[in-house]
Amino acid sequence: MSMYDKKGPYIIHEEPGPKFYCMCGLSDEPPYCNGSHNGKETGKRPYIVKVEEPRTVKICGCGKSATMPYCDGAHGKYEAAEKTEE
Ligand code: FES
Repeated sequence: MSMYDKKGPYIIHEEPGPKFYCMCGLSDEPPYCNGSHNGKETGKRPYIVKVEEPRTVKICGCGKSATMPYCDGAHGKYEAAEKTEE
C-alpha cells in the first residue's frame, strides 16, 4: 500500500523542528520519510522543511497535488472524476 492511496490529506499538527516528508510514496510511516526509498530507483528524495512555529499542515495523501508535498485540493477533483466514471 502506498501513502498515496489515502485519497485525502494527512492533517498534522507540527511542532518546531526539521521535518522529512516522504515524496516517493513508499514510506510505512506516512507522511514522513522512513528511508524506504533507499536502494530503490524512485528518483525521489524526502522534502525537508524546518518548521519554525507550531502549525497544522495538510500533506498530500493522493499523489495528485501540484504543490507536493502539500495538499492543493486536487484530491477533490480526483474523487469527482472517479464518481463520474462509475
Ligand atoms: S490529498 Fe492530494 S491534493 Fe489533497
